[in-house]
Amino acid sequence: MSNYHIKHLEEYFHVYRKSVNEPENFWEEIAEENFVWRKRWDKVFEGDFENAKFEWFKGAKLNITENCIDRHLRTRGDKTAIIFEPNSTEEKAQHITYQQLYEKVNKFSNVLKGQGIQKGDRVCIYLPMIPELAVATLACARIGAIHSVVFAGFSSNALATRINDSDCKIVLTSDGSYRGKKTIDLKGIVDEALETCPGVESVLVAKRINTDIPMKEGRDKWLQPLLDKASAECEPEVMDAEDPLFILYTSGSTGMPKGMLHTQAGYMVFTAYTFKNVFQYRENDVYWCTADIGWITGHSYIVYGPLANGATTVMFEGVPNYPDWGRFWEIIEKHKVNQFYTAPTAIRALAKEDSSFVEKYDLSSLKVLGSVGEPINEEAWHWYNDSIGKKKSPIADTWWQTETGGIMISPIPYSTPTKPTYASLPMPGIVPCLMDKEGNEIIENQVNGRLAFKTAWPSIARTIWGNHKRYKETYFSTYKGKYFTGDGALRDEVGYYRITGRVDDVIIVSGHNLGSAPIEDAINEHQAVAESAIVGFPHDIKGNALYGYVILKDAALERDHDILRKEINQKITDRIGPIAKLDKIQFTSGLPKTRSGKIMRRILRKVACNEADQLGDTSTLLNPEVVQEIIDNVLL
Ligand code: PRX
Repeated sequence: MSNYHIKHLEEYFHVYRKSVNEPENFWEEIAEENFVWRKRWDKVFEGDFENAKFEWFKGAKLNITENCIDRHLRTRGDKTAIIFEPNSTEEKAQHITYQQLYEKVNKFSNVLKGQGIQKGDRVCIYLPMIPELAVATLACARIGAIHSVVFAGFSSNALATRINDSDCKIVLTSDGSYRGKKTIDLKGIVDEALETCPGVESVLVAKRINTDIPMKEGRDKWLQPLLDKASAECEPEVMDAEDPLFILYTSGSTGMPKGMLHTQAGYMVFTAYTFKNVFQYRENDVYWCTADIGWITGHSYIVYGPLANGATTVMFEGVPNYPDWGRFWEIIEKHKVNQFYTAPTAIRALAKEDSSFVEKYDLSSLKVLGSVGEPINEEAWHWYNDSIGKKKSPIADTWWQTETGGIMISPIPYSTPTKPTYASLPMPGIVPCLMDKEGNEIIENQVNGRLAFKTAWPSIARTIWGNHKRYKETYFSTYKGKYFTGDGALRDEVGYYRITGRVDDVIIVSGHNLGSAPIEDAINEHQAVAESAIVGFPHDIKGNALYGYVILKDAALERDHDILRKEINQKITDRIGPIAKLDKIQFTSGLPKTRSGKIMRRILRKVACNEADQLGDTSTLLNPEVVQEIIDNVLL
């Protein structure tokens, strides 16, 4: 029996037991039977949580693009690898076969080499959801360069921070992007960012919206002429199992975004394995994940996981409501999508619209539905299950993180019985536990706790780029000998997990991780602001929205509040991006603080959530009088 594809519940339990009792044998078999290696590993795993050091398939040599592309050519050369569905319904979809993908990636690899990019160099990719984005990431992987994809909705400032943190030598971008009715001047954002990025030597620009844009002499080059001249053969670089594959930034509760580093072999094995099982992918299926490749979901489950399985993966450039709210369903009908993977925010927004948008389309191709990025509430779960899945497509509520590289907790469709709002059971090889506030493991069921993991898995991030100390402190110091997720969870009577949300100062808005600190820094940059604090509050569509408490400087007290609110949100848009804008801004004379000067966010959160009657203990406050003022002026 192969452990690679789980087809029923007993098999899951059998495989799971094996994966926990003999993890090295388990992963070794999977790695051996399902991938191509240039050299076999000497040891399957070495490492520990103490030093936060993990090596999987130690000593092995490989190239991930050989696994994602080359090895499929013989049997799947003419099979579609990527279906590109453009923003506009007027523009035709593109079907890129494995053979064509091979040629595109090789050409792009040669172009990068021509720009002097070598193994280990960092390449910043700031592209919209067009085929060049997938091709660029794979081209980096082919030549051993480390890609750092920055979501093309981030501002110039956020882009510059990320480029500088990982010392990228080159930026790959486009003349602009389409987003529904709008176009966005991506190249302009890059130009602005690069004013503070001295390390960037060149910028390659893909043409997408065909606007006339300034090109900086000696630095900027159009991509297409270089591709046209490049050879379609590029030998893959032979990589060590633990060589870096990519850096991807995620927000922490404090400080700079964290550049999570993922490496080659473990990441490949785990994302491919979880893709196969969570989506129950079969050879001729068409799979669609609506995420952007700028997030981990896109890395693992648009690009690497699907392609390592020789799958057909859809890349959608647009938005769910353009030209109207039927767009997702139209795409499912058009491409006969079998597996559909999206976020609760999108589900909630779609559920609010008229049911005729759904009913107009034939969704009978669907076999599996996925959800990711934030807790899915009961109402949204049922709508997804009933209206989209017609009660016959199981929902895989997949819990994981940028740091985990791949899906950690999820039902295996057609094997694990689903339960609304529950991510259910761990993937093989994953050993979750719940911890109490005192740091003890909770053994019993039907309790709430904090979600941690007891053992390392192949795609665990290896470090925070340039800051291993922060990596150790953030994930491995809260509970000794365990990886701490930052999430709370409930375990039910049979051991199913339900994720209840973050227990730190990270706020998940529309499925995007936002740290409170960088947003507060952006607000504080406004010349009228003395101090600020932001918290999350529940929002019908976005899951959470942001609520800001702002103390104005004396000189600004008389200024018009609505204008100030606009200006503050503009600051946030400039520093981070529109995704981090505040829904509500309350001006206040003070913030509740402990005697040591720490803001008591718990109180601010309760007030913003309209739960001021449950403030709990406020006796340790330095300035209790400010609490009443905040309650009296709350914006509900
Ligand atoms: O709080 C959890 C939430 O998203 C966080 C990870 O965010 P990010 O690194 O951006 O990765 C998102 C995509 C993998 C987690 O700590 N989260 C993710 N999936 C779920 C979830 N919360 C509840 N249910 C989920 N299925």
